[in-house]
Amino acid sequence: MKLFVTLALALGLIPAPVEYIPAQGVCVREKVVVKQDSKEFRKVTASLEPFQQKEAYRITVSPRKIKIEALTDEGFFRAGKSLEQLKAVGPIPCGVIFDYPRLRHRGLMIDESRSFNGIDFLKKQIDAMALLKLNVLHLHLDDSAGWRIYIDSYPDLTGKTAFRMGRTYHEWEAGKYKFTSADDPDGYGGYYSKEQLRELVEYAAQRFITVIPEIEMPGHSMEVGYAYPEVLCVHPNGKVHTGAWDLCPGSEATFQLLEAVLEEVIDIFLSPFIHIGGDEATMKTWPECVNCRKRMEEEGFTDVKQLQGYLVRRIEAFVRTHGRRIIGWDEILETGVPEGAVVQSWRGVEGGLKASAMGYDYIMSPNSHCYYNYYQDLIRKEPKAVGELVSLRFTYGYEPLADGMDPEHLLGVQANLWTELIPTQEHAEYMLYPRLFALAETAWSPSSAKEFQGFRERARALLDVFRGMGYNTFDMDSESELARSGFQRFEQLEKYKAQYETAH
Ligand code: ACM
Ligand code: ZN
Repeated sequence: MKLFVTLALALGLIPAPVEYIPAQGVCVREKVVVKQDSKEFRKVTASLEPFQQKEAYRITVSPRKIKIEALTDEGFFRAGKSLEQLKAVGPIPCGVIFDYPRLRHRGLMIDESRSFNGIDFLKKQIDAMALLKLNVLHLHLDDSAGWRIYIDSYPDLTGKTAFRMGRTYHEWEAGKYKFTSADDPDGYGGYYSKEQLRELVEYAAQRFITVIPEIEMPGHSMEVGYAYPEVLCVHPNGKVHTGAWDLCPGSEATFQLLEAVLEEVIDIFLSPFIHIGGDEATMKTWPECVNCRKRMEEEGFTDVKQLQGYLVRRIEAFVRTHGRRIIGWDEILETGVPEGAVVQSWRGVEGGLKASAMGYDYIMSPNSHCYYNYYQDLIRKEPKAVGELVSLRFTYGYEPLADGMDPEHLLGVQANLWTELIPTQEHAEYMLYPRLFALAETAWSPSSAKEFQGFRERARALLDVFRGMGYNTFDMDSESELARSGFQRFEQLEKYKAQYETAH
């Protein structure tokens, strides 16, 4: 095993393959021979999980021939991406690569609400994901800072909130959260048409990537209340709580809107999962709202938190009747998780541990390791980010299966890119690359094959390839010794804090 690991790392491939047996020389004539679903390869992959078999491939490279074996189009696609990457970093070395994924969900989330990037940017990131064998793009399509998907039955969602005053999220916040119209020359924003999203779903599917839409509820939803105030809480004096960040779970208008939106979303996206958010509801307006109080009385609730559970259960049932499953951020664990829901752990790994113990499927995207809007190097040399250090080495060191977790229910891992502090596409790419290389290896490669120094060398070479393809990336050569040394979250290493923060 040790021999394989060392040699696999000599192969310039990210994610590192399961097995690589080198031979003498390099390929000088790329005559590709394809073997579909051979008996022999079926035997080789017989002990793998079905999702692994589907993506498994074997490439045999000799000086004048390249043989590719796989069982499905997806397997051939993964093999093709391996060859594309190997060719990009040098001549293809002779030998045999046998490969399949560790985890089934290998994802990236992009927040399109706080900053809006547009279709071309998303396609470009899908291309990068395909090269890295990632297979899930999760789009955060709405938040208080703007609604980004056109909905026929509620056109004011984009009509009233897709454009705002303030180029950046913080300018918008400083200007007291003002929206404007599409034709305002001082406005900022945009939204996706259904045609664009259908095309994106197809573009991703051709690359064996699933697009999971997120419609956020009941928190982070100020823009919905701005467009349709009937989804907001009502004070006993009859006044609507305008400016509330949460939807009213007491109002039937809330469910009418959410179900109509979800119906249209389900019609566009082919994903078996629909993300319904569920994080950070403030619940501030709920205790005094006449509709929330009525709902609590009817349902026999004693705590306003139970209203969130009510909303999640009702929406889950609706999504299920449409043949899909919900994913929710880990807060959904606090108010009763419906059977079949998937929990996405973001507040560290605790949500994953709890979901696992309770028998739910779960996805790991702990902010400690997988939030790529966090700093990747010392504060003093980086653009303003969120104040924890998630260096390449630190994120690479992430092992999603913590002690006590049930591997059967671990669907996968995901990196999240929240864009409050990331106003441009160049900046977004700078935060993603090379850290997304690390996520890809964590998600695909066997944990026993991971070794940082070899990975760093491969990442350095692949980063040049990415730059050549027009991606803006972090400069690994300028990375501080502290970040490179495996430095962890700064509050755990008090002695480094001054160095980390100096001159910022
Ligand atoms: C989150 O970062 N609020 C899911
Ligand atoms: Zn209410």
